[in-house]
Amino acid sequence: MDRKAVQLAPSILAADFARLGEQVAEAERAGANRIHIDVMDGHFVPNLSMGAPVVQSLRRVTRLPLEIHLMITDPDLFLDEFTQAGADSFLVHWEGNNNLSRTVLRVKALGKRVGVAINPATPAAVLEEVLQDVDQILVMTVNPGFGHQRFLHTTLPKIRRVRQMIDQIKPGCDLEVDGGIDATSAPRVLDAGANVLVAGSSVFGSADGVAAAIKRLRSPCAGC
Ligand code: DX5
Ligand code: ZN
Repeated sequence: MDRKAVQLAPSILAADFARLGEQVAEAERAGANRIHIDVMDGHFVPNLSMGAPVVQSLRRVTRLPLEIHLMITDPDLFLDEFTQAGADSFLVHWEGNNNLSRTVLRVKALGKRVGVAINPATPAAVLEEVLQDVDQILVMTVNPGFGHQRFLHTTLPKIRRVRQMIDQIKPGCDLEVDGGIDATSAPRVLDAGANVLVAGSSVFGSADGVAAAIKRLRSPCAGC
């Protein structure tokens, strides 16, 4: 993987919400490529997070693309609201969606980028039919719902498999990973074929600041 092509998507779930605008601006200055916004409804995952008003506020403080990771039971109901708030792309889960193709087409009809996310226990094979219609795939490297969890190494073979599928079926499709990404796991997922890293606690919880954390994740020898 060409390290220059690696995209970083800091997840604001780990940010200090009292200083959210400031922290996002800091991430932008430090070279982040997009901002990852985790939306949880307490049903799809056992946690609550944030909704469209947060997106609306962030839209005013950054020019970076805002990527919305929908961990909610009925994503179709909220696509319009997040789009009006300023969303640039949506990540929707394969799990629990009986009409995933419809959801994907709805996002595209709104003129936004779309990605499909799969949980650690979900095989890569489920992506085969939908891959040609999406702009990115998100492989969850933890079980969704919480930040600051340990990276699941068992997802590495799946990342390799998804990379092969993308190269065969949809070259140019982003392969993003989310959960437990830090200076140690980053080189492993990049080696497996990921090109977009979501990172929450390793960026916003970093003792030496957001800029140093982003630099570390991009470092050719991250984790060495
Ligand atoms: C987990 C979320 C992640 C989370 C990652 O359900 O989808 O985006 O914020 O946090 P870290 O990087 O701390 O594992
Ligand atoms: Zn996420």
